[in-house]
Amino acid sequence: MAEHRVLILFAHPMLQRSRTNRKLIRGILDIEGVTFHDLYEEYPDFNINVQREQALLLEHDVFLLQHPFYWYSTPALLKEWQDLVLEHGWAYGREGTALHGKIASSVVTAGGSEEAYRPGGMGRYEVRRLLAPIEQTFKLCGVRYLAPFVVHGTHGIDKEGIEKHAADYQSYLKAMTAGSVDFIAAEANDLPFVNQDLNRVIRVEA
Ligand SMILES: Cc1cc2nc3c(=O)[nH]c(=O)nc-3n(C[C@H](O)[C@H](O)[C@H](O)COP(=O)(O)O)c2cc1C
Repeated sequence: MAEHRVLILFAHPMLQRSRTNRKLIRGILDIEGVTFHDLYEEYPDFNINVQREQALLLEHDVFLLQHPFYWYSTPALLKEWQDLVLEHGWAYGREGTALHGKIASSVVTAGGSEEAYRPGGMGRYEVRRLLAPIEQTFKLCGVRYLAPFVVHGTHGIDKEGIEKHAADYQSYLKAMTAGSVDFIAAEANDLPFVNQDLNRVIRVEA
């Protein structure tokens, strides 16, 4: 049995035109302990079933928000999901302790290159800094937030480049379900994205 159950909250409004996310997903669907939950497929009319979403969160230890970077943020349905599912008195507030002790992170594909997401670049800030509202939202809910897994430069990346990221993503998720991800290393503030150096966050068992 998986050590950690991982819920992937996937949001891509145009999956049929996706190059990168489609490849990333392919290698992780069959990993034991991973639940793949496609929000745009489930809720094309944005009519989110809050009780069902909350039940899914309770059944898992780790939540990964996987999406293409849209205007330095998430696609709209994932914002709607946050607004509706993370209810006061349940996820936050004096009695809102349902998610305490869980783990969250993001898996983001961005058109812009790594160089673009630096001071002086087009994006100006690292992707992790731009995801600060999500990091802070989870922290308010008592959920630890790990540095995101980021695929930069999707506009220019070739097939081999995407395949390398897909292999890294698969290794990361296998380690996550096996309980081999070092959460303290992965949440370190100075780590811009976990796949910059997966050896830093995946523990090799003796
Ligand atoms: C509406 C929209 C907004 C976008 N905003 C950004 C952005 O802010 N930063 C960025 O790097 N790329 C941006 N992109 C590019 C997408 O992030 C990129 O095409 C996607 O991650 C590629 O993944 P896919 O092949 O799975 O669709 C945007 C694309 C669209 C359609």
